[in-house]
Amino acid sequence: MEQRQFLLSQKDIPTEWYNICADLGEPPPPPLHPATMQPCGPEDLAPIFPMAILEQEMSAQRWIKIPEEVMNILALWRPTPLYRAIRLEAALGTPAKIYYKYEGTSPAGSHKLNTAAAQAYYNKIEGTKRIATETGAGQWGSALSIACKFFGLGCTVYMVKCSFYQKPYRKSLMNVFGAEVYPSPSEKTDFGKSIIAKDPDCPGSLGIAISEALEDTLKHDDVKYSLGSVLNHVILHQTVIGLESKKQMEMAGDYPDVVVGCVGGGSNFGGIVMPFMADKYAGKNVRGVAVEPTACPTLTKGDYKYDAGDTARMTPLLKMYTLGTDFIPPAIHAGGLRYHGMAPLISLLVEKKMIEAVAVDQIDVFQAAVLFAHTEGILPAPESAHAICHVVTEAKRAKEEGRERVILFNLSGHGLLDLGAYDAYLEDRLESATECDDRRVNPNGKCQAF
Ligand SMILES: Cc1ncc(COP(=O)(O)O)c(C=O)c1O
Repeated sequence: MEQRQFLLSQKDIPTEWYNICADLGEPPPPPLHPATMQPCGPEDLAPIFPMAILEQEMSAQRWIKIPEEVMNILALWRPTPLYRAIRLEAALGTPAKIYYKYEGTSPAGSHKLNTAAAQAYYNKIEGTKRIATETGAGQWGSALSIACKFFGLGCTVYMVKCSFYQKPYRKSLMNVFGAEVYPSPSEKTDFGKSIIAKDPDCPGSLGIAISEALEDTLKHDDVKYSLGSVLNHVILHQTVIGLESKKQMEMAGDYPDVVVGCVGGGSNFGGIVMPFMADKYAGKNVRGVAVEPTACPTLTKGDYKYDAGDTARMTPLLKMYTLGTDFIPPAIHAGGLRYHGMAPLISLLVEKKMIEAVAVDQIDVFQAAVLFAHTEGILPAPESAHAICHVVTEAKRAKEEGRERVILFNLSGHGLLDLGAYDAYLEDRLESATECDDRRVNPNGKCQAF
């Protein structure tokens, strides 16, 4: 029998996070203050984030120690397993070896708890009483509500309205952990009310939900805001995924030719790929492929420029690939991938051609997800299935070329609370969601807000 599982022991949990900023060769473009257009300092963001988080956001230090209290939470489910997908390889008849890192074993069901634990901890020690946040599909909100419960903090979640109704059990899960959950746009904030007044049927977007969580934060002294993706500190916290994967690939006696991950804001992919990018900067030949939905093609059809992170334009301007803050993607079932922007660090590496980007349609995604479930037995989150979809393409290409190729991907979460989406797929109710209808393509072939 060939080995399928590559398991680390608890003493192998990384004790430091890896910061790619140390290896970029130049500082990444800084966030800009929207009023002055000057680089933001920590003091500009202090009303929103704890100082320790802001220091990490702006740090160029290569390794940052993980606090003991955070290690004790991570140890509840880490290290996560790395598997070789031998049955999927066989079904595809490919000479490629396919490995996947499985983050769905966390209590929240995805990678999101890796950063939620750290963010809740830093908030706790700096005196925050409640955290406000947004969530797309509900994975981030679930993770943060668990982390807030662990550290005795209140938690308010603005959940994108279409996902709120598509995934009702995510709300239940958050409620079990004591979080308050509102469909966004909501009547709880002035910004939410203004959106509803203009468009009562607005399905919501991550940009709108972020604006609502920020408004809630800024109106209360003891409340801070927390973001589940996009920012440098979130990618930093997620590097435990890639650091463990490197050790596990060594156990397997292989090194990946290509590392694949789905991208919403870029955190799970950043988490797995950045430690491999360190090798690439050191001269190693490894590809990184970011996979996004055609319904929200930020990297493949967006512009690389300074833009706000939220619809009300309250955040600092970030240099990133963006479809524009007003872009409201169709209500596809991978709610966690419906973000108009992309992590500045991922955007920079795409711009520098260190990382490739591809877009896939949700029908192909669900087809790949079901093939994966039938062969490997795990039902993937619709977001993670975007990575699988591209892995299938890479594996088929290896077959056509008759070349062995080592593929590693991040299975960022399970889909056991996404069954409505699978029902829709099986009952033929899913639509092919290609975003760029005539309304939204500008003359350069790029998507634009409508
Ligand atoms: C399971 C899963 N994977 C991926 C994502 C996308 O986010 P990110 O790009 O930050 O990893 C989400 C977002 O909600 C998610 O729930």
